Amino acid sequence: MAAEPVILDCDPGVDDAVALLLALAVPEAIELLAVTTVAGNVPLALTARNARIVRTLAGREDVPVFAGAERPLVRAPTFEAEHGPSAFHGETGLGTLPLTAPKGDLADGFAPDAIVKLAMARPAGTVTLVAVGPLTNVALALAAEPLLAEHLKRIVIMGGARSAGGNITASAEFNIYADPEAAQAVFTSGAPIVAHGLDVTHAVRATPERIARIAAIPTARAQAAAELLRFSHGVALSIGNPSAPLHDPCPIAWLLAPDLFTTRPARVAVECESELTRGHTAVEFRVDPATAPVAWVTGADADAVFALLEDRLARA
Ligand code: BDR
Ligand code: CA
Repeated sequence: MAAEPVILDCDPGVDDAVALLLALAVPEAIELLAVTTVAGNVPLALTARNARIVRTLAGREDVPVFAGAERPLVRAPTFEAEHGPSAFHGETGLGTLPLTAPKGDLADGFAPDAIVKLAMARPAGTVTLVAVGPLTNVALALAAEPLLAEHLKRIVIMGGARSAGGNITASAEFNIYADPEAAQAVFTSGAPIVAHGLDVTHAVRATPERIARIAAIPTARAQAAAELLRFSHGVALSIGNPSAPLHDPCPIAWLLAPDLFTTRPARVAVECESELTRGHTAVEFRVDPATAPVAWVTGADADAVFALLEDRLARA
């Protein structure tokens, strides 16, 4: 089967970086048209730099990196590092990963415009947009080109929570909290959406055993992933959790092996009015499956997801 054309919008971010390493390791399955970056875990200048660092690490300078929105649609920026003990991603955004000089410049152009141009240049129903940061770039792209929502094959998101509860507030998951207006625009855009919220990512945990298996793989991409996951593990322990969830690699793993995940048809609305519940995702399963715009991911075979990650990171 031909590789699937994909645009990956992200805010690296430790787990974004692992998602990127996975996506960059599978050219036979994913034709990465571009990586686009957004402000989120850390400011835009760092997410744009970090994506280029990971691209260099993977030896994939053929993939363009575009920088996008510096701030949410209407709110002040919420950098993840300013919440809690900071530091789910460290000051650089890449935990304790030694920073090497990235090869290759940023591509010219604003990420939302690049998303529109690259997706509309391909036949309708072929390009998948994966978004694992705040949804600002995606919302701007959908607003700039009203035909984009129906032109995309689908948007695969990491964001939101139903039964798991929030991770930035009691109600909200970080990516949706950071730009709730953008998330509401995306979830109601009419584009087919596959949403990996905390309900699934909290069930796919980077346990010490799983990290050790990745650390034992002698490739540069596995070594980098192990360092990133070790950092997340340390943060998890420091806040009383036994292990860290593997958020952003889940949408990439779903693209590679959807059978490892379970989904339910849903409709999703995002709370934008109340400050108390800002960014809450109201996930309604009482829908007509034939017309439901969202496939809400409810679970995953975590061992198989990690086996897939190990296998692809073992590639030189
Ligand atoms: C999401 O928020 C970020 O901290 C992670 O990169 C992930 O995309 C999890 O809530
Ligand atoms: Ca992210």
